Amino acid sequence: MTEATDIFSILHTTRAMRRLKPDPVPDALIRRVLEAGTAAANGGNTQKWRFMVIKDGAKKKAVQAWYKKAFEEVIGPRYASSAAPPGVTADKYHRQHSAVEYLTEHFHEAPVWIVACMEDGANPNRSAGASIYPAVQNMLLACRALGLGSTLTTRHLLFEKEAEAALGLPPGVHSYAILPIGWPMGKFGPVGRGNLAEFVFGDTYGETWAGLTD
Ligand SMILES: Cc1cc2nc3c(=O)[nH]c(=O)nc-3n(C[C@H](O)[C@H](O)[C@H](O)COP(=O)(O)O)c2cc1C
Repeated sequence: MTEATDIFSILHTTRAMRRLKPDPVPDALIRRVLEAGTAAANGGNTQKWRFMVIKDGAKKKAVQAWYKKAFEEVIGPRYASSAAPPGVTADKYHRQHSAVEYLTEHFHEAPVWIVACMEDGANPNRSAGASIYPAVQNMLLACRALGLGSTLTTRHLLFEKEAEAALGLPPGVHSYAILPIGWPMGKFGPVGRGNLAEFVFGDTYGETWAGLTD
C-alpha cells in the first residue's frame, strides 16, 4: 500500500522520489496538499506565502533548461567529486546521483509543480525562508501520505533571476522551492541519515547530549 496515515511512518519514509510517472494527478489531491502546506506555522501568521500550481509544459521546460544548466555546471561535478554523507553507503550515494540526473532530464515531465513563493519584497533571507519551508515540508509529507512522490528542489536558484523570469514571478516575489509532483515509479522506503550522536549536542556544542548515552 503506498498511502500512509501514521505520522512517524510518514516522517521516516518521506524520501526524495525523483522518478515520477507523467500520468495526471487529480486537482482534488493537489488541493489537499496545498491545504496541508498552509496549515504550517509562519512568522506572525502574516501568510506572505504564495503557491503556483504549474502544469504548463512550456513554462516547466523553460525552467528545466536552467535547472539542467545548473546540474551541468555545478551539481554534477560536485557529485562526481564528493564522498557519501553520514548514514549513506557509497552504493546508495551512487544511486542517488543517478536519480538526481534522471530528475534533471525529466523535471518538466512531472505532471504538476508546486512552486513555493514568498511576497518578501527585495530581501529574501533566512527569516523569510523560515516562514515558507515549514509549509514546503508539510506538503512533502502530505504527498507521501497520499502516495504521491515529490522532492524538495532549490537548484533553480543557482540561476535565480533567469528561472524566476521563466516562472513569470512579479517584482518583490521570490521562489523558495519547486516541488515536482507525480505518481512515483518506485517504492517509498526509509530515509538514510547519520546517527543522532553526530548531530546532537548538550549544553556544550560539540559534546554529545547525555540523553543519547543514558
Ligand atoms: C534545501 C534542499 C534543497 C534540495 N534541492 C534539491 C534539488 O534541487 N534537486 C534534487 O534532486 N534534490 C534536492 N533536494 C533533495 C535532497 O537532495 C535529498 O533530500 C537528499 O538527497 C536525501 O535524500 P532522501 O530524502 O531521499 O533520503 C533538496 C533538499 C533540500 C532540503
